[in-house]
Amino acid sequence: MSPNQSKKDTIVILDYGSQFSMLIARRVREAGVYSELVPWDVTPATLSNLNIKGFILSGGPASVYGSDAPTLPSFVVDSGLPVLGICYGMQLLANYYGAEVASASAREYGPAVIQQTTNSHPIFSNLPTVMEVWASHGDNVLELPHGFMLLAESENAPIVAIADTNNHIGIQFHPEVVHTPAGTQLIENFLFRVADCDGKWDSSSFINETVTAIRAQVGQGLVICGLSGGVDSAVAAGLVHQAIGDQLTCIFVDNGLLRHTEAEQVVETFREHMGMKLIHVDARNDFLTNLEGVSDPETKRIRIGEKFIRIFEKETENLGDVDFLVQGTLYPDVIESAASGNSAAVKIKTHHNVGGLPKDMTLTLIEPLRNLFKDEARNVGRTLGISSEIIDRQPFPGPGLAIRIIGEVSESRLDILRRADWILQEELLRTGEINNLWQAFAVLTNTKTVGVQGDYRTYGEVVAIRCITAEDAMTADWAKLPYEVLATVSTRITNEVEEVNRVVYDITSKPPGTIEWE
Ligand code: XMP
Repeated sequence: MSPNQSKKDTIVILDYGSQFSMLIARRVREAGVYSELVPWDVTPATLSNLNIKGFILSGGPASVYGSDAPTLPSFVVDSGLPVLGICYGMQLLANYYGAEVASASAREYGPAVIQQTTNSHPIFSNLPTVMEVWASHGDNVLELPHGFMLLAESENAPIVAIADTNNHIGIQFHPEVVHTPAGTQLIENFLFRVADCDGKWDSSSFINETVTAIRAQVGQGLVICGLSGGVDSAVAAGLVHQAIGDQLTCIFVDNGLLRHTEAEQVVETFREHMGMKLIHVDARNDFLTNLEGVSDPETKRIRIGEKFIRIFEKETENLGDVDFLVQGTLYPDVIESAASGNSAAVKIKTHHNVGGLPKDMTLTLIEPLRNLFKDEARNVGRTLGISSEIIDRQPFPGPGLAIRIIGEVSESRLDILRRADWILQEELLRTGEINNLWQAFAVLTNTKTVGVQGDYRTYGEVVAIRCITAEDAMTADWAKLPYEVLATVSTRITNEVEEVNRVVYDITSKPPGTIEWE
C-alpha cells in the first residue's frame, strides 16, 4: 500500500550511489520533513502524487565525464524548485550549467576546513564563517557555472559551495555525516530557509494519514497479519488494527524456538492489552519433529520456513474469504530491492526465506511501514501504545533459537539455552549494559568439556556468549563488556544451569564472523 501522501511537504532525494544516501533521507526526516530516496533516473510520473518542496542530489562514486555517468534529469531543474547538490550532486549541477569539472590535483577524503566567501546566503545561516566539514571527492568544480556565485572555498578546492538565484545550491562536502558538526543546521537551512518546508511530519501525523489510507484501501474487506513477536510486524499490525479493528485477524505461530516467556508476551500484548483478534497456533511439536536429525544451518532455515508457510496457509484457509495481508516491510528493504539490480551480493545465509509467505498467495499486500526507517517504526509503535518489551526488542532471527543451537535441536537443548540466555539478559538489564548493545545472546555449542564442580568431575556443555555493537547488522563489533559483568554471567550460568560447566565469550567482529553462529 502506498498511503496518499499528496498533502505533506516532501523532499525528494535522487540517489547517485553514495554510501550516505540513506543518511540524507534520515536527516531530513529527523528535521520533521518527509523525504523519499529514489533512483536518480526516476520518472517524473512516479513522483506525481507528492507535494515536492525541493530536491537533493546525493553524492556518488562516478565522475561526470565518465562513460555511462548518471546525469541530472532536466525535470528537476525545470521544476523551479530548490535543488541542493551534495558532492557528485554539486558536480552534476555545475556541469549542467556549463562549468568544467575535473580530477582534483589534491583529492579530499575526510576532514576539511571551509571558509565562507559571502555570509549572505540562507544555506549558511547561523553557521560559522570557518567550519569543519567532512569531504570525500576525487573531482573538483574548476570554474563557476553560468549564473552562480561562490559561497565557500577550502584549501584544496577553491570552489566548495555555490548557488544561483534560482535556489540551485551545490556543496562539495557531506552535511549528512556526523563528522560535519554543523551539517544538521545546514540541512535545516535548506529545508526551512530555502525550500520553505513546514516541518510538521512526525509519528502522529504519519499515523493519522496512514489510518485514513488503510480504511480507504480495505473498505469492508478482511485482513490477516502474521505476528512474529518482532517490532516490524507488531507495529504494522497495531496501525492496521487502529484503522479497521476487528476486520484484522493476527496469526501467531509459536514454533517453540522463541526465548523464555516470549510467546506468552506476544499473546498478552496483542490479545489482552491491545484487544486484537489473535489466533495462537501452538505448533511447537510440529516444528521440533520437522527438525529431528537436522544439523546443517541452511537445512534448519529451509525446514522452519516451509513449515511456517504451510501452517499460515492452513490458518488463513480456515478464516474464509480473506482479502488482504499485512506485512511489516520497512523502507531499507524497499530501497534495497529497488537497488538490487546493482548488488552483486553473494549469499551468506538465506535470511529472508523464514517468515516468507507463499508466492502463490493471492492476497493484496498492505505494507503500512514501507516508507519508514526502523527507529521511525519504533516511534510509531510507541505512539500507538505498544509495550516497550516489544518495541525495544533486539532483532531476533526468524529461525529463532534453532540457529543458536549448534547441531541438532531438541527440547532439552532448547531448555538449556533458554535458561542460560535468560541469565545473560537479566544481568545486562540489571547493569544497564543492554542499552549499549545491538544484540546479546547465548549460543549452545556442541562441545562438551571436563570441569570440576563440588569436588566432582563433570563433563558438561559449553555456552558461548555473543554481545555485539553495531549501527546496522551489516557490520558489527564484539562488545567490550566490563569483566565484572562477564564474570557474574559466567558464575550464574555455571551455578544455575547444571548442564553447563563452561562459559566462553565470543570476541569476533563481523566480518570475519557473522552475528549469529549459524
Ligand atoms: P548475521 O548472522 O548474518 O545476522 O550477521 C545479521 C542479522 O540478521 C539476523 N539473522 C536473521 N534474521 N532470519 C532472520 O529473520 C534469519 O535466518 C537470520 N539469520 C540472521 C541476525 O540476528 C542479525 O540481526
